[in-house]
Amino acid sequence: MERLQKVLAQAGIASRRKCEEIISSGRVQVNGTVVKELGVKVDPKADVILVDGKPIKNEQTLYLLLHKPKGVITSAKDTKGRKVVSDYLPGIKERVYPVGRLDYDTEGLLILTNDGEFAYLMTHPRHHVPRTYRATVEGTPHGSVLEKLAKGIKLEDGMTAPAIVDYHDVNPEKKETVISITIFEGRNRQVRRMFEAVHYPVIRLKRVQFGPLHLGTLARGKFRHLTPQEVEELRKAALEAESPAAAADESQSVQKKN
Ligand code: URA
Repeated sequence: MERLQKVLAQAGIASRRKCEEIISSGRVQVNGTVVKELGVKVDPKADVILVDGKPIKNEQTLYLLLHKPKGVITSAKDTKGRKVVSDYLPGIKERVYPVGRLDYDTEGLLILTNDGEFAYLMTHPRHHVPRTYRATVEGTPHGSVLEKLAKGIKLEDGMTAPAIVDYHDVNPEKKETVISITIFEGRNRQVRRMFEAVHYPVIRLKRVQFGPLHLGTLARGKFRHLTPQEVEELRKAALEAESPAAAADESQSVQKKN
């Protein structure tokens, strides 16, 4: 038996918190009875659970790691007929959603899941899950440029949080440098915009790590299932990385609401 809000979140309805609101507002029925209290336990295999009159999907939760190639959209569908990440998941019948996004031109580690709560936990800004990229830039930026990026840099949507930035591969003959950059936020096109701001536009971008999870040797365009241990470690990392100030803010706003 599991708590109703957890079952709804796992069925991909919304985050656990949002599911609590959905329950409280009387939109959920269990075996024909509207349930408004939180904490009611249900058996997702035996009980008939409806949200807004529609049965929830009783799917197995899936957690996948895809090595996204460049030139692929991080979305389930594309109206312009371009390749999308689901084209790279043969045999997966469940609807899985990307955990965050990678740009069309970015390759590398992308997690996909049908567990809405897990996706929310991984991507919520409050959890600061570190993401590590290899950014190939033209020329060789000076160490002071990397320091600037590491300290925080002004972008049009505000200062970036401190990051970890270092040389990964310097090859003067090739006239390009691979920089390793770990950021603790997930703003749109953040890494590309950071390097543009210091006048070293990114030529190639690859995500190699998300929290404790490494891309490893997974071939480009291939996917694998995460192990239960990897899923657990990701969850743990997100909860441990949570900033105490943000957590306090959130709990205060919850108290105010209640
Ligand atoms: N930063 C970017 O600029 N692009 C991505 O795809 C991910 C992070």
